Amino acid sequence: MGEAGLQTRDLTYQAGAARLVDLPDLRLSPTGTTVIMGPNGAGKSLVLRLFHGLIRPDTGEIMLAGRGLDAGLRGKQALVFQKPVLLRRSARANLDFVLKARGLPRDRTPALLEQVGLAAHGERPARRLSGGEQQRLAIARALATDPEMLLLDEPTASLDPAATLAIERILGEVKAAGVKLILVTHDLGQARRMADEVVFLARGRVVEQGPAEAFFAGPETEAARAYLAGRLDALVEE
Ligand SMILES: Nc1ncnc2c1ncn2[C@@H]1O[C@H](COP(=O)(O)OP(=O)(O)OP(=O)(O)O)[C@@H](O)[C@H]1O
Ligand SMILES: [Mg+2]
Repeated sequence: MGEAGLQTRDLTYQAGAARLVDLPDLRLSPTGTTVIMGPNGAGKSLVLRLFHGLIRPDTGEIMLAGRGLDAGLRGKQALVFQKPVLLRRSARANLDFVLKARGLPRDRTPALLEQVGLAAHGERPARRLSGGEQQRLAIARALATDPEMLLLDEPTASLDPAATLAIERILGEVKAAGVKLILVTHDLGQARRMADEVVFLARGRVVEQGPAEAFFAGPETEAARAYLAGRLDALVEE
């Protein structure tokens, strides 16, 4: 992915008069896992959707490796949502479908199922898999296109600890293989386990950003301190 990772330049997103996202100069580390945190309504999902090109900014641009984020670069990203949207077909057919759509060989399906621990479930209807299994299938589908960057919006928000851990293990392997991860989560334990870098957002703006270790050891802003301590009242003030 080159020297520079994802960057924004004068990026704003508005709804009416409300500026929901305002990121004049965000620079994410080109490697490892960036965890985006912040209270409900901070703009985390909007930011991921902007990064992935699902919505268009009102001003500014997103750069990747020093280039404007065009369709070619977006093709090197994949986005995983909190609630997977799967086809009413078998797990295997869900992966075959994506591979075919991208003109990739379908013989990769077994390895993808194996990678997410679903080798024994390939013929089961995707929508009858458990929540954790469905999310693992959604991650396999995202990985099918060999992304260089994986964006994840609260991928474990409705999963139990065991299913969450299974997904964290898969993401750990994906990161080790050199894929850049951008993970939105409200799960502080997960943020501590997964983050190399933290971006703390509130009201569409970066409140604080830094290496995970420093952020968790001593957040610099009252808003981040309050969030980490679970003091939700203080968040409203800052
Ligand atoms: N299309 C839209 N029009 C108007 N407001 C919007 C639109 N989309 C999102 N918003 C508002 O923008 C703000 C940010 O929304 P977003 O979904 O990005 O928050 P979030 O940080 O992901 O929150 P959560 O933690 O609850 O998922 C919210 O106040 C939301 O109501
Ligand atoms: Mg959200």
